Amino acid sequence: MVVVFPALPVTAMTWSLRFAMRIPRFPMSLPYLMPGKNGRIRRLPSKIWVYGRWREGRVDSYSVGALDEREANTWRKRGISRMRLPNLTRYESIGINRTFNLADGHAHQPQSVSQRQIVGRLPELFDEAEYARQSDLEEEFRGLFYGLAGQRTAATLPRALCCYSASLSTDLIATYAASRGLRVALLHPCFDNLATIMKRREVPLVPLSEQQLSPERLDDTFANLAADAVFLTLPNNPTGFEMSREAWERLVSLCGRFDKLLILDFTFRFFSRQPFWDQYELLEQSGIRYLAVEDTGKTWPTQDLKCSILAMSPDLHADILELHNDILLNVSPFILRLLNEYLKDTEREGLPSAIWATIDRNRQMVREAIDSTFLFPENPDSTISVEWLRIRNPSIRSVDLVDRLHGHGLGILPGDHFYWADLSEGERFVRFALARSPEMVERACSILREGIGLR
Ligand SMILES: Cc1ncc(COP(=O)(O)O)c(C=O)c1O
Repeated sequence: MVVVFPALPVTAMTWSLRFAMRIPRFPMSLPYLMPGKNGRIRRLPSKIWVYGRWREGRVDSYSVGALDEREANTWRKRGISRMRLPNLTRYESIGINRTFNLADGHAHQPQSVSQRQIVGRLPELFDEAEYARQSDLEEEFRGLFYGLAGQRTAATLPRALCCYSASLSTDLIATYAASRGLRVALLHPCFDNLATIMKRREVPLVPLSEQQLSPERLDDTFANLAADAVFLTLPNNPTGFEMSREAWERLVSLCGRFDKLLILDFTFRFFSRQPFWDQYELLEQSGIRYLAVEDTGKTWPTQDLKCSILAMSPDLHADILELHNDILLNVSPFILRLLNEYLKDTEREGLPSAIWATIDRNRQMVREAIDSTFLFPENPDSTISVEWLRIRNPSIRSVDLVDRLHGHGLGILPGDHFYWADLSEGERFVRFALARSPEMVERACSILREGIGLR
């Protein structure tokens, strides 16, 4: 249950003390406190509210923000201003129900002609899946997936487990890290559920910026890293940040030298325009410990019928397999059968026309719509399926802009939670998803201009 709870005197106690207390339930919103930087309590500007989650007679976690849109609207009517919701998924849930949903990063672009033909064969694929052997489907899936990604070594890897979703793969990693007491240096910014899953499993996290991974700073970064594992999303959602092959080779060699576990989230890999090369060959030959997450869900528009692969170095296999066994026997054979058709189709059509063309067209439209406004592409070279925009007007907060656009029927994400270690850093950004129909994006761009007062 989620309850609203009030502030107690600022100077009297620290946040943690107050947090650990059994705070009584209050029927209505009252003024609030928030932990500030360095663990000190700070008072929030007025009209922001703190919610605690009530479990077993005490508040066990808190967030600032509305519980749902209906409630937010009620408070808005009472003159209470924007609230930051607890995580990105909450904003995605709102976006999904807008007329123009550019919030979640899942693949919602329209089917190509040949993909539509696959959809026309669904009953046949269903029947085939029913009679297929699971191991054959998985083997074919891994072969096609990794083949398309240019990862020949991984295609025959005996240590690659299929999971329902990338989040499940991440959760297995988090559970493993927690069981070994590992501290993890996690990319900052990154999609917030990587951090929240780790935190829920009580894995200590250290933020690692993209600048710290630059070729000039990489050696220093590793020499001073207070963590046992390094967790990177490449390319990174939301920024589109990538590492060159040379930087990658250096990264792997530093992991070997400093004995760090390398955790890689490759879920946006198919949007990279760097020439594909066999990253798993390097990982395998290096002898380092690694865990690598793959996913189809960001790339193919299969209505969230998706599969994630979690691959690992030999030394981790037994432990991760056991964790995997606790959760699932197999990903649906029908989903694998369907995905195999999409993968074969993309192999035939080629990534440029099957995947990239729509993303590029949509990016172009968004960039034209924001031209000469207070929004600016943070990474002009980004090629991934989201656009990360800086808000150049210091008086506009991301959540205010998102809230305003929600009112116009357009769902996007505020940047805040991508900066999971310091949400305020993300206030200067918003993210637009691009894996959508260009017709919808075109209309969304008009709404955007209207929403920011240009029409
Ligand atoms: C980089 C990254 N990894 C993992 C995930 C989790 O994916 P899923 O929601 O399909 O589990 C996301 C979600 O957007 C993501 O952006």
